[in-house]
Amino acid sequence: MEQRYPWKIQQLRHHTNILDGTAAPTLVLKNANYLNSSLKMWQQGNIWIHQDRIIYTGSLFPLNTNNCEVIDMTEKWIVPGYIEPHVHPFQLYNPQSFADYASQTGTTTFIQDNLMLLLLSNKKKALPFIQQFKSLPLSFYWWARLDAQTEMAEEEHIFTNGEIHDWLDDSSVLLAGELTSWPKLIEGDDLILSWIQEAKLNQKRVEGHLPGASEKTIAKMALLGVTGDHEAMTGAEAWSRLQQGLAVTLRHSSIRPDLRKLINELKEKGLKSFDQLMMTTDGSTPAFYREGVMDQLIAIAIEEGVDPIEAYHMASYTIARYYQLDHMQGMIATGRIATLNVLEDSRQPTPVSVMSKGVWMKKDGIRTAQLPETDWTSIPPLVIDWELEDGDMQFSMPCGIEMVNNVITKPYSIQFDASRDELSTEHDECFLMLIDRYGKWRMCTLLKGFAQNIGALVSSFSSSGDIIIIGKRKSDMMIAFNRMKELQGGIVVVDHGEVIHEIALAIGGVMSTDNMEKVMDLEAGLKEILNERGYGHDDPVYTLLFLSSTHLPYIRITQRGLYEVKKKTVLFPTIMR
Ligand SMILES: [Fe+2]
Repeated sequence: MEQRYPWKIQQLRHHTNILDGTAAPTLVLKNANYLNSSLKMWQQGNIWIHQDRIIYTGSLFPLNTNNCEVIDMTEKWIVPGYIEPHVHPFQLYNPQSFADYASQTGTTTFIQDNLMLLLLSNKKKALPFIQQFKSLPLSFYWWARLDAQTEMAEEEHIFTNGEIHDWLDDSSVLLAGELTSWPKLIEGDDLILSWIQEAKLNQKRVEGHLPGASEKTIAKMALLGVTGDHEAMTGAEAWSRLQQGLAVTLRHSSIRPDLRKLINELKEKGLKSFDQLMMTTDGSTPAFYREGVMDQLIAIAIEEGVDPIEAYHMASYTIARYYQLDHMQGMIATGRIATLNVLEDSRQPTPVSVMSKGVWMKKDGIRTAQLPETDWTSIPPLVIDWELEDGDMQFSMPCGIEMVNNVITKPYSIQFDASRDELSTEHDECFLMLIDRYGKWRMCTLLKGFAQNIGALVSSFSSSGDIIIIGKRKSDMMIAFNRMKELQGGIVVVDHGEVIHEIALAIGGVMSTDNMEKVMDLEAGLKEILNERGYGHDDPVYTLLFLSSTHLPYIRITQRGLYEVKKKTVLFPTIMR
């Protein structure tokens, strides 16, 4: 049976014995400048640690130091380990590779999306799968999604009452959401509303997803139970969420690098303190993290004039408090889990040493621990046991998808006859197909504004787990598809019959087993190859992910067909094969 409290009664007694001197701690960090989050000030003193727990912080020194390591922290600064409160751990990287990488810059707690686990594994296995993360030296928490962010043919089979209740019952699930289907909720979907109530009864938070929402919509969502949102793109939007009592997470991500603007606009509006706010990188694509994870955001906040203590709190204490974890973590204080970062300077958030649950992940600039391999058996590789046929590639359609930027699209009317084997490189329109991973249906149209001169790109990385095929040349599309099939999932680019780039995604066809550094290089390679061929945007991974995402305007290619988001209508249904 799962141990519900991290320490047994006997261990708790032992911890108080350490204060009395009848037992010794395992480690003392002596003469440290540490952040006292309750007093919101730096203090000087000693941090006693026994195994994975902070036993005491203050001016006292242990009476008993038998076999106790003492490290002098004079001129060092100690802050709580950073928390990333909104992780989508499947942007080519996976939960383990992302966390392992993030730990080296001080981010050691992850509150993360369960959507891909629900989509990719047999649903009975998704919840058991996350249990293995509980014993790791980093802290993993999860969300319970109440909806997919695309139009799915069988959404009701994935988000069942029983499944949602099981997730909301799990101790490592801290929130319901993010709620991309809030329009449905407002229109009267009482099933989702009952799940929100259930979440709240279980003391969970409810994360909204309200880009561009009006003040009234925000108020309605607050009335229906939403407690927080991370979609503000301007200071005014963040302000209106705060005004309606929502918890606000400021976003700085690869597609929305808004943090500087948000901070400055909030200051202009007269916001006095930032320690009610949180920050997130919102599932950025791999290369974004070359600059760090939450340390990157804290550095930006400090640069923009936020008080350093408030900046650290936006990535630790405030998040812990909001999710009711502060009795356990997010603070350098007695009784908390020993998760902390050692800094050389109070204004330099990238740590020289990182401790998580009492384990040094990095010490004096050198990696000292690595996460063990995850058991991926419940997310099998993508096995495609069917053939893509020439007859599937029929692209005569009156209406296509035009890319406005990386992720926003609009419909456009196709002006030429697309029933040919190759499209001209004089224009930027490509063939586009979404095809069922099980080969049951397909949807064909054209995509404008993706690239001028690309033979083919095939991707099993998509928001529904289905296969995206884009290209100018049908023969290249076939080769790329077959290579992706051989890889059992991946992204493959082909030009004039030759594979010129590939990223194997062995975990469900969506995530790589490679480490983060390798994944960043592979992603950079993909971007370069696409840019050379006329891809004029900067985040191809998000482009692929969001082609099917119906939480963004205006037209999407989905399991149900070509879908107009605002009108919620299928313009052209998928064709059964
Ligand atoms: Fe998100």
